[in-house]
Amino acid sequence: MEHTSSAYPDSLRITTLQGHILEQQTAHPQASGTFSWILSALSISAKIIADRVRRARLENVLGSVGTENVQGEVQQKLDVIANEVLLRTLAGREGVAMVASEENETPIILRNSSPGVTRYCVLFDPLDGSSNLDVCGAVGTIFSILAHRGDSGRPEDSLLQPGSRQVAAGYVLYGSSTVFVLTTGNGVDMFVLDPGIGAFMRVERALKIPVGNKTYSVNEGNRQSFPADVQRYLDWAQSQGYSSRYTGAMVADLHRILLKGGVFLYPSTAKAPEGKLRLMYEANPLAMIIEQAGGKAVDGAGRRILDIPPSAVHQRTPLVIGAADQVDRVLAIGAG
Ligand code: AHG
Ligand code: MN
Ligand code: MN
Repeated sequence: MEHTSSAYPDSLRITTLQGHILEQQTAHPQASGTFSWILSALSISAKIIADRVRRARLENVLGSVGTENVQGEVQQKLDVIANEVLLRTLAGREGVAMVASEENETPIILRNSSPGVTRYCVLFDPLDGSSNLDVCGAVGTIFSILAHRGDSGRPEDSLLQPGSRQVAAGYVLYGSSTVFVLTTGNGVDMFVLDPGIGAFMRVERALKIPVGNKTYSVNEGNRQSFPADVQRYLDWAQSQGYSSRYTGAMVADLHRILLKGGVFLYPSTAKAPEGKLRLMYEANPLAMIIEQAGGKAVDGAGRRILDIPPSAVHQRTPLVIGAADQVDRVLAIGAG
């Protein structure tokens, strides 16, 4: 598909993430550049984290730090390192008012609002699937960007906006290559890190999730405590010859679904009655990407994830997300 008026085919052009961001800024003259600087901080963070992940065994930074985060989960050394990298790169960006992370109990206020200056809140899961690190499995970073609403009330009030208000969202997958997937609300674009030159290169534009893929992704070890509708869906899927794929890092599972189709489920369980995944920096950004690619994301009651009004930064939600046809199957069989 041609995206500009130039006659030179899109597929032959070389465009970096940096170039892509500038291109988008030119297409929206009202954009001040503030936002582009934030995306560039995320791109630099991704390169630093990718490097630290690849060198982790050599630098002896695998394993846990012996503490738990606010979620009561064991923190890996690299969870803390990745969190620091994001905080330190974003702190330097004038346009960031506030950041919130899975690894910090309360949001960090970097700047107050000033008249005439547009600022943003950046929420992130610095390392997703971090228990995969010790075994060289795939891990990721997830981020969500919201407009800062001003200084009235408690700082977190500015963060507590539904996912439909996100101005951008994305993830980085540290897998057999490092992949940066981004949406600014105008489709989904994909970039791969070229380690030879240290730049993310654009490899796909306007990604659309394929339909008809009979694959589900769920931790079936929890099956006995899934709600009855999810158990009914799994019985049905298995009777239809579905395959199962589950990596323990939702970024990796969702990346497979973005490219190949299928559905990911993390329902409520006995251990996690509200679900395990966090609404604001796991479910919302991934839901925005998946919807922008033609898919769907709903909670345990079939409610659109992006419409959920959040009441806490670390709030959890059950999640069913993936290709539209496969999410519809879960809803239809589950309700039947
Ligand atoms: P995190 O490492 O950020 O805590 O996230 C892990 C999440 C998600 O990525 C993954 O799909 C899920 O937890 C795995 O949980 P189970 O081990 O309970 O299946
Ligand atoms: Mn996570
Ligand atoms: Mn994490």
